Amino acid sequence: MGNSAQAIDLESERLLRALMHVDCDPRGRKWNFDSCREIAPMTLEINRLKKEKDAVILTHSYVEPEIIYGVGDFKGDSYYLSLMARDSRAKIIIFAGVVFMAETAKILSPDATVIVPDRNSGCSLADSITGEGVRRLKAVHPDATVVCYINSTAEVKAESDVCVTSGNVYDIVAGLPARRIIFVPDRLMAENLRVELRRLGVDKEVISSDGTCMVHEEFTTGQVLAARSQFPGLKVVAHPECPPDVAAAADFVGSTGAMMKYVKASSAPYFLMLTECGLVGRLEVESPEKRFIGGCRLCPYMKLNTLKGILSALEAPREDQIVTIDEDLRRRASLSIERMFRLAASN
Ligand code: 13P
Ligand code: SF4
Repeated sequence: MGNSAQAIDLESERLLRALMHVDCDPRGRKWNFDSCREIAPMTLEINRLKKEKDAVILTHSYVEPEIIYGVGDFKGDSYYLSLMARDSRAKIIIFAGVVFMAETAKILSPDATVIVPDRNSGCSLADSITGEGVRRLKAVHPDATVVCYINSTAEVKAESDVCVTSGNVYDIVAGLPARRIIFVPDRLMAENLRVELRRLGVDKEVISSDGTCMVHEEFTTGQVLAARSQFPGLKVVAHPECPPDVAAAADFVGSTGAMMKYVKASSAPYFLMLTECGLVGRLEVESPEKRFIGGCRLCPYMKLNTLKGILSALEAPREDQIVTIDEDLRRRASLSIERMFRLAASN
């Protein structure tokens, strides 16, 4: 990494301007000039290689802030990043997120080389059901429309009629003509969906599989009650992967993108974010005047993304870092995602 001392100083200052606001750091790191200076040679080199190799880096809001603000080109939730992957013309897409997100990018941008920095970055939801599991559900309920949450494998997407994300699940399912819906793989999101459909007065039967998000299933109403009694005026913001009693106790439930919008627009004195800690880090950077009271949780898979891993993948990707999908499977999986884009655009 042949960067000059002056370039490193400038990069350290750039990093510090963003990262100095991050208080919620799972590793207990504090960002100051020295810690920014430690990573600056790496961010400079990654940003140089991106240009040289025609690469973009998509970063989910749950990954470490030095990735999002140091080298990321696009940051956001699953829906936004899928659109960015679909519309990307870059030769290489590095997905700093988890494997199902990188797979989705490959489904939508088949000509790009899609790279996942760590092959072990799974997801307890995506890993909970296979294509065969969906086929079994379809055999029992042949008249049902199959809806898959985007946190699912390419195989599951290929067996589904339509894909959804946390940002459009309620609207898309409510508007489907079928009364009977198979919803995979999130059991808790399915419960939240049933509650929302009842509230909207939409008559549907939702059959679900048994997956859960290992991060969001751990939040409890006890945590909400304790926080409310300690912080008057607190707003509780939850993801729809949370248990339904927790979602009911929250002031707002939505995708990570919608959670960010809600917090940015609110004048509440404190926020309890019932989601992964990376989102709190993002909010601290982008809304440094807001107060977050802790209580978020870590996704071990998202935290497998590191600057080092991204750099080595850009320099020379290992075979296991390159996402490949059988072309017939990819085409079938793309149909459910493209249907989501059409339905989301018309809602
Ligand atoms: P979002 O689409 O809301 O970013 O959610 C992705 C996810 O994995 C939440 O746990
Ligand atoms: Fe999967 Fe949960 Fe991690 Fe999101 S937070 S990637 S749903 S395990």
